[in-house]
Amino acid sequence: MLFCSTLAFVFIVPISADQKNITAESGQNVTLPCRAPNNNIIVVNWSRADLKPQYVLLFRDEQFVPDQQHPSFKNRVDLQDRQMKDGDVSLILKNVTINDNGTYECRVIMRETRSWKSISIITLSVVDPPGE
Ligand SMILES: *[C@@H]1O[C@H](CO)[C@@H](O)[C@H](O)[C@H]1NC(C)=O
Ligand SMILES: *[C@@H]1O[C@H](CO)[C@@H](O)[C@H](O)[C@H]1NC(C)=O
Ligand SMILES: *[C@@H]1O[C@H](CO)[C@@H](O)[C@H](O)[C@H]1NC(C)=O
Ligand SMILES: *[C@@H]1O[C@H](CO)[C@@H](O)[C@H](O)[C@H]1NC(C)=O
Ligand SMILES: *[C@@H]1O[C@H](CO)[C@@H](O)[C@H](O)[C@H]1NC(C)=O
Repeated sequence: MLFCSTLAFVFIVPISADQKNITAESGQNVTLPCRAPNNNIIVVNWSRADLKPQYVLLFRDEQFVPDQQHPSFKNRVDLQDRQMKDGDVSLILKNVTINDNGTYECRVIMRETRSWKSISIITLSVVDPPGE
């Protein structure tokens, strides 16, 4: 019995993040979706794999933290809903360019667990608008 329940634990626990591919045309404002279980969120960290350790957006204790934000995102990113209603921590990225191509990850620290949880991983491809 003990053996069985240990096996079940091992296979069920690693819940993988939600993965999505999004394509946008340069100049558009893009929303990268991310939904936490509820709004008991202490920290939101949106990052892009190739820019670590700098981040895209860090929201902690109800404030944006600019310290290590990658310069290309200054004044171009926002949360879709700063109240984070129903756990919505989707990112708005304005006026995208092909330099925004990449794999974005949304991670949060929830009040209940106090540990990082990866919620969504989004691959953004920015293409030139047709006819230019
Ligand atoms: C995203 O695109 C990659 C490469 O084009 C593909 O392998 C993967 O299955 C796609 N993922 C989703 C969730 O559509
Ligand atoms: C993007 O958002 C900005 C400000 O939020 C707005 O002024 C602009 O018209 C939007 N651009 C597009 C292409 O929707
Ligand atoms: C945010 O996430 C990035 C990428 O994982 C990491 O390098 C950075 O240290 C994190 N920053 C904070 C303050 O959690
Ligand atoms: C969008 O970005 C392009 C190129 O980076 C820039 O020329 C343009 O002024 C920007 N548009 C807005 C509305 O910020
Ligand atoms: C961005 O991604 C798209 C689709 O994957 C690709 O066609 C394009 O060449 C990429 N641009 C850059 C600058 O990497």
